[in-house]
Amino acid sequence: MADATRSRPPEAAEDWTVPQCWHEYSAQDHATWDKLFARQLGMLPHRVTPEFMAGLDVLRMSKPGIPDFAELSDRLMTLTGWQVVAVPGLVPDDVFFDHLANRRFVAGNFIRRPDQLDYLQEPDVFHDVFGHVPLLAHPVFADYMQAYGKGGQRATALGMIDRLARLYWYTVEFGLIRSGDGLKLYGAGIVSSYGESVFALDDPSPHRIGFDLERVMRTKYRIDDFQQNYFVIESFEDLLERTLNTDFGPLYDRVAQLPDIEIDTILSEDGVYTRGTQAYAHGKVAA
Ligand SMILES: [Fe+2]
Repeated sequence: MADATRSRPPEAAEDWTVPQCWHEYSAQDHATWDKLFARQLGMLPHRVTPEFMAGLDVLRMSKPGIPDFAELSDRLMTLTGWQVVAVPGLVPDDVFFDHLANRRFVAGNFIRRPDQLDYLQEPDVFHDVFGHVPLLAHPVFADYMQAYGKGGQRATALGMIDRLARLYWYTVEFGLIRSGDGLKLYGAGIVSSYGESVFALDDPSPHRIGFDLERVMRTKYRIDDFQQNYFVIESFEDLLERTLNTDFGPLYDRVAQLPDIEIDTILSEDGVYTRGTQAYAHGKVAA
């Protein structure tokens, strides 16, 4: 993810990459990865989209310990032409978009402390690699990620990054997908979180709404807790097609004229999968 306010640390190259320094991870770092990995694997197989499990498998990510980005990149390059590059943390928007547009996924090279399994201020290697990388092995999703990077470069020129960031948030980070067997998870922010992997699918609180590009770009989101809305795509092919076949210039013009949509709102034109009770969010406010 991107952070426009940060300045480049001295150890980072001009494109903000750093060596992963895989040999510098401690035994405890690897043990933290293994613990998080085992916890998610105990719960995800019937919840997550099968393409995610296929990605874990083809990238051999069940090998114990934090993955070596060079090995991951070799496999990804053969499959979809992507690489994983290390960065020290969040990077500026233009850097982030440039990497995506060139099929490079930036991943934090640090891992959370053992007492932070459920809470993170900044995405670490578990979120970035476990959450994001398996779907980069899927050709259509891989193309979507690159299209997003190119779209980000155009949105920068048009001053519309904030609206486009909502698309990333509600798809790449917190997306749900329809399957013959009910809804499934695919967003990295969900699949790398034990609590949200359950909440996003099973809890009666959040709304689950059919994906619509304009609707998503108008919808606020929260960064401090579980989402109050999730958007459901039909398929990765459909998501990619809608993105590639939309002329974003007129869409941005339209969105700029319309009010933002609050996070707990359902519109009459929404395709509603689940009308949430919002009990979780309202309980937090009342507490
Ligand atoms: Fe992420």
